[in-house]
Amino acid sequence: MAQFLARMDSTGESAILAGVYLDGQGTTDEPLDELAGLAEAAGVTVCGRIIQRRRKPEGATYIGSGKLEELKELAEANDANLVIFDNDLAPGQTKNLETALNIKVLDRTELILDIFASRARTSEARLAVELAQLEYSLPRLKRMWTHLERQGVGGVGLRGPGEKQLEVDRRLAQKRILDLKAELQTVYLRRQREVKSRKTSRTVSLIGYTNAGKSTLLNKLTDSDVFVKDQLFATLDTRTRRWSLPGWGPVLLSDTVGFIRDLPHHLVAGFRATLEEVNQADLLLHVADASCKEVNEQISAVYNVLTELGINEKDTVLVLNKTDALSAKETADGGQGTEEGASVSVLSVLLEKYPSAIPVSAATGFGFERLTAAVSEALSKEFCGITVTMPIGNGRLAALLAREGEILSSRYDETSATVRCRLPKHLLGILQREKDITIDGLPQEPPPAW
Ligand code: GTP
Repeated sequence: MAQFLARMDSTGESAILAGVYLDGQGTTDEPLDELAGLAEAAGVTVCGRIIQRRRKPEGATYIGSGKLEELKELAEANDANLVIFDNDLAPGQTKNLETALNIKVLDRTELILDIFASRARTSEARLAVELAQLEYSLPRLKRMWTHLERQGVGGVGLRGPGEKQLEVDRRLAQKRILDLKAELQTVYLRRQREVKSRKTSRTVSLIGYTNAGKSTLLNKLTDSDVFVKDQLFATLDTRTRRWSLPGWGPVLLSDTVGFIRDLPHHLVAGFRATLEEVNQADLLLHVADASCKEVNEQISAVYNVLTELGINEKDTVLVLNKTDALSAKETADGGQGTEEGASVSVLSVLLEKYPSAIPVSAATGFGFERLTAAVSEALSKEFCGITVTMPIGNGRLAALLAREGEILSSRYDETSATVRCRLPKHLLGILQREKDITIDGLPQEPPPAW
């Protein structure tokens, strides 16, 4: 992963990466590769790696004492000024590690928050990141002060924080957290209304692991020009474009913030407004990078974030992107050898595991026909065929049917119009509340509440 992440300006820091993996975790060949990618994306140079496998973390320092010694030696030998853990550390563990190593220690969450902070461009993203950073920092304020003290940062008001100063800081942070939450709630409610007001169009949301190719796919499908970069978390907001879906008509396609394994909970909560588009989408296109060795883990990570957001029940089409890179890689590798010596393509293994997935290449356009057919089919499931008889003067209803549905035939007499049409099921509730109309051919199950 490291090689495909663009680096930010270097911060001049060099870091040792440390990963403590409990049973069943970190099973890939190079479990620290993703962390190395994150570190590079934050502008940090990686100068060493250390891994420990354990049954459970060491209470005080997460890593065992022998490995901690090794880590200290490695950091000294490489002149590192930072250690980054691939784990979530409790505030006390970070403090103990910093005391033992005598250099700064970051955990995975702090690193991700740092990258998000550097990428946040919209005011909404900035609010979400600031809230997540403050919530992360609040229980760690004491450590921060201790750190300043050790570095000899002094001066009026900074000469040893004392409990009083800490208490002031805590209260300021808590107040700011409340203000940010209130601001984000306002943004969320406004976003919810905006998305709902567009709800007369069918909406499809691209979701997926960071760098999977969502923005590239959005550009190709809608002939747009949104920002694409070989960069972690290039997109932190939501962009929506009109997509003329062949054989269907216009739908709205949106692209949003990418996900990652163990995305900090505070961040997920903060981005609730940004992700409202996903929440209200009729269909999700889950884009995965088929050429990445960890594609299965990435697919699961995306489902985990969706579960955390409470939107795991939605109709989803899995899109296996970057098949062009896969072919190139497979040709270079000569295919993957099996025990029988036969060559098995990575793609066929993936398709066996995810039989309804659609292989595509956003770069070359491969698979787009199958993709659009799958999207049309999935959206069609949401439609039903009905016949509506209504007073001839009800122009508003006639316009709604024409705008939202597909009119199959119309018949008029002096007082009424009879329209045979296909209509999105979610609009049946509105129809049933209309006076003086009859509807034939309604599906058995009750329409969803509007
Ligand atoms: P985030 O904003 O981080 O969530 O990324 P994203 O999922 O929107 O990915 P994006 O479209 O920015 O693409 C990431 C990188 O993958 C870019 O360098 C793209 O050029 C590249 N990429 C996207 N699709 C393909 C593809 O089909 N094949 C190949 N080879 N590269 C692709």
